[in-house]
Amino acid sequence: MEDWAELGEFYQEIKDCRKCPLWKTRTNLVFGSGSQRARVMFIGEAPGYHEDKQGKPFVGAAGQLLDSLLSSIGLKREGVFIGNVLKCRPPENRDPLSQEIETCKGYLYRQIEIINPPVICTLGRFSTNLILGREVSISKVRGKIFKLNGRTLIPIFHPAAALYTRANLPLLEADFQAIKQVLEHTQEEAVEELPEGGDEVAEQLGFW
Ligand code: URA
Repeated sequence: MEDWAELGEFYQEIKDCRKCPLWKTRTNLVFGSGSQRARVMFIGEAPGYHEDKQGKPFVGAAGQLLDSLLSSIGLKREGVFIGNVLKCRPPENRDPLSQEIETCKGYLYRQIEIINPPVICTLGRFSTNLILGREVSISKVRGKIFKLNGRTLIPIFHPAAALYTRANLPLLEADFQAIKQVLEHTQEEAVEELPEGGDEVAEQLGFW
């Protein structure tokens, strides 16, 4: 079995978290899943109903679409890492509150530090805003790539947005092709610099 030691230890540390009130309504904290050696990390918003019940990220309808998009570029979820901005489900799947994001973001940063992925792909506006460190419109930044502290950041629509608005699906499919290209051109060696949080100003590299 692949080395999950550090992630496993970190999971043990946080699995009973009570830092924000979401612990009262959760069934499971959803830590994230995949490989500790992933070269690409996908970051969603927060667990939904099924994720909360199973303790795994992206297992509902949006997750099925994510699986098929991964498979369209030859990836499996076991080979990447899939996580979320919030580790616990907001009641009724409401949007994450900024206070919840503030409280939880350190867990995500620690996961990024442990996995040290050269490529980060943010799904939707909450993770994109957090990692970019500023408020952006996801429709304006999708289709662009950013360089952030030595990592490549690819913001894309959340798969749920393509389930909701079918016209977004071809854009999402094109963005996965972009992810494939970026991964093909990404060096194997680990990134030296680590992100320090959300307040970095990213440099825009280009358009697809
Ligand atoms: N949507 C998310 O943002 N994350 C999940 O884990 C599931 C659905």
